[in-house]
Amino acid sequence: MIDKLKELIAEAEAFSAQSKDEIEAFRIKYLGSKGLTRKYFSEISKIAAENRKEFGQIVNKLKVTAEDKVNSLKEAIESQEEDKGIYGDLSRPGEPIALGARHPISIVKNQIIDIFSRIGFNVSEGPEIEDDWHNFTALNLPEYHPARDMQDTFFIQTDPDILLRTHTSSVQVRYMENNKPPIRTISPGRVYRNEAISARSHCFFHQVEGLYIDKDVSFADLKQTLQYFTTEMFGKSKIRLRPSYFPFTEPSAEVDVYWGLETETDYKITKGTGWLEIMGCGMVDPNVLENCGIDSKEYSGFAFGMGIDRIAMLLNQISDIRLLSENDVRFLEQFKSVL
Ligand code: PHE
Repeated sequence: MIDKLKELIAEAEAFSAQSKDEIEAFRIKYLGSKGLTRKYFSEISKIAAENRKEFGQIVNKLKVTAEDKVNSLKEAIESQEEDKGIYGDLSRPGEPIALGARHPISIVKNQIIDIFSRIGFNVSEGPEIEDDWHNFTALNLPEYHPARDMQDTFFIQTDPDILLRTHTSSVQVRYMENNKPPIRTISPGRVYRNEAISARSHCFFHQVEGLYIDKDVSFADLKQTLQYFTTEMFGKSKIRLRPSYFPFTEPSAEVDVYWGLETETDYKITKGTGWLEIMGCGMVDPNVLENCGIDSKEYSGFAFGMGIDRIAMLLNQISDIRLLSENDVRFLEQFKSVL
């Protein structure tokens, strides 16, 4: 029996536990009311008198060993829990910090702003809900002018004078009304047109329009500025100006960039011509200058306007304009690497 007891003591000494449950099971086995220590204590009376003392001491040692074990294991587990309470589990992997991405529209808009700011243009902004004067009349588009049909306008029903701006030229009117030449400003912003929504067009999109007004501004200045822009923006300096019509500019032109015909995509986006239309432009009509309080005999200027969405689609090979306003993170996350 003594050998058995020594074995149990060795076992108790070697015991280790990971949880409170394991410690409790150990305590019940050794120290419980039906446990081993009790059992051997109750054997003492049956032991021959000459061996009784030694036996008693060994049983006691079993008890003390088991008690010490239970105490030290409990202490160890409790101090572990305390650490967790303060710091959490220090061995857990860190939580990744989710990084957002700029919207492709913002990326292109910022690029355009950056390019024009390098040649002295500032940024001006205005309201998306406009009045007739700033969106149309001041821009040489009086009531009943047929060219108003070019821009399918959303009117605010209760007031035919109030509408959602159809272009950011309205901001240029506001800028001319409030600033004296020389003026060099670009106006980025969202615009609205009542068009059927499809992969190619939406009822709202984004523009950047530019305005330059000073003494002796000529068409050559316009062309140089556009050439600088296309070189910086697309790395392409070959452009052509096709005669066009806008009520607020005279003469007016559409600007095409020579994109080239090197890849299949080039064929697709230029419809096999190599040329890509990117914006409208022209010399500001003297009437517009006068409407905005600028002396058209002293000053002249040019203006241009382009759609940001189309350029963003072009540069990122986005085939459907609706993707730009769906807020689908699977789409937006693809722009993470761009600033
Ligand atoms: N406002 C025109 C448009 O929205 C673009 C434009 C701006 C054309 C300035 C010429 C000059 O289509």
